[in-house]
Amino acid sequence: MPSLEEELFPSTPGKFKDRNRHFHRCFASTSNMFLWALFLIALTASYLCFQSFMDSGNRYFTSTWGGHHWERNVINSAQIRRSHGGMSVLVTGAAGFVGSHVSLALKKRGDGVVGIDNFNNYYDPSLKKARKNLLTQNSIFIVDGDINDSKLLVKLFDIARFTHVMHLAAQAGVRYAMENPGSYIHSNIAGLVSLLEVCKNSNPQPAIVWASSSSVYGLNEKVPFSESDRTDQPASLYAATKKAGEEITHTYNHIYGLSITGLRFFTVYGPWGRPDMAYFSFTRNILQGKPITVYRGKNRVDLARDFTYIDDVVKGCIGSLDTSGKSTGSGGKKRGPAPYRIFNLGNTSPVTVPMMVAMLEKHLKVKAKKNFVVMPGNGDVPFTHANISSARKEFGYKPTTDLQTGLKKFVKWYLSYYGYDQGKL
Ligand SMILES: NC(=O)c1ccc[n+]([C@@H]2O[C@H](COP(=O)([O-])OP(=O)(O)OC[C@H]3O[C@@H](n4cnc5c(N)ncnc54)[C@H](O)[C@@H]3O)[C@@H](O)[C@H]2O)c1
Repeated sequence: MPSLEEELFPSTPGKFKDRNRHFHRCFASTSNMFLWALFLIALTASYLCFQSFMDSGNRYFTSTWGGHHWERNVINSAQIRRSHGGMSVLVTGAAGFVGSHVSLALKKRGDGVVGIDNFNNYYDPSLKKARKNLLTQNSIFIVDGDINDSKLLVKLFDIARFTHVMHLAAQAGVRYAMENPGSYIHSNIAGLVSLLEVCKNSNPQPAIVWASSSSVYGLNEKVPFSESDRTDQPASLYAATKKAGEEITHTYNHIYGLSITGLRFFTVYGPWGRPDMAYFSFTRNILQGKPITVYRGKNRVDLARDFTYIDDVVKGCIGSLDTSGKSTGSGGKKRGPAPYRIFNLGNTSPVTVPMMVAMLEKHLKVKAKKNFVVMPGNGDVPFTHANISSARKEFGYKPTTDLQTGLKKFVKWYLSYYGYDQGKL
């Protein structure tokens, strides 16, 4: 009886038979090699997956949270301490510039506030820690964690029934997107979705107010920028992620009944500001006697920004929270339509960058060494100018601080924080 092997490869006389055997041996050894190669590829792939999991874990989820003491801190901080209309707010990015100011303002009027921040090193984390200390002194607890850590978010919603979320955590900055594009996807896209997922599932659902950006207007040339203007020509990945955020939040509003308000901030500045922004880094360089690079547009046209003072933006954030209306869903099910709003929060009076530098020179009493350079096409836009009539109509938004006054306050803070010692600046 022929073996199975012979059935598959019937023996034939002479050379042909030999060739057949040879072919079979070759086939067997090739398939062995193939299996080994497959095994090695699988092994390498699992190792790489494990490594990248560990990397991302290390990079983003280094915080420790939980335990009785931690929970007590969250509960105390979330507690509403005013009799009428108080809210309990989860502020993401609370150790950031805008987040720390909004947290303090909410706490001051008796609202409950719990912050979350991952203290990343996009800019000097010691400034974030200093802001955190300020918040701690005002009985605000900041959780050291990442908004992509959904277990942490679920836990926070379990122990504190937040009525509102003020979502300010993001990878900010326009030019850094060319260096580290992944960080924008991590915080502004994946982080946003992770937060919305937890909000949508929580019962009751909170109302969400979040920071979009004037950068969504991109190459729009119609001034002043109105909320109904086109926003489909972003000039940077940062702008594109903010625009995507507006679409993503719309989806969660539409499907799950989450109340959403997106705020397009226009160049926010002031005490405890962001060291990566021009007014801040110019101040540092001017005091250190170093040159500053001032960008110019085509045909030597000066760039202009609708600089908006932090206290005005805080009033806009709180006005938005107060008028946000309720989410209608619960446990992931929509029960009816919920508000979806977008507002510009600007100052309505753009100032050119050289004029801003002149104001800094006046407050610092030092002349700047200016290098004028043609603006590279790396994400900046030539000008911004907000139309704020919608925010004014909806919650009485009315900025009151001009750039001259605001920069004076910033310089005062800068000198008190960093000191006059040139070496430390
Ligand atoms: N400052 C402005 O001029 C301006 C203009 C337009 C829009 N915005 C937006 O306003 C918001 C606040 O900006 P800001 O100027 O305070 O910036 P910021 O960088 O000072 O604050 C953002 C904070 O979020 C934290 N963060 C980032 N990714 C996180 C993550 N995945 N998990 C947890 N925390 C994370 C950072 O550590 C930081 O402390 C941002 O969404 C920003 O894009 C700011």
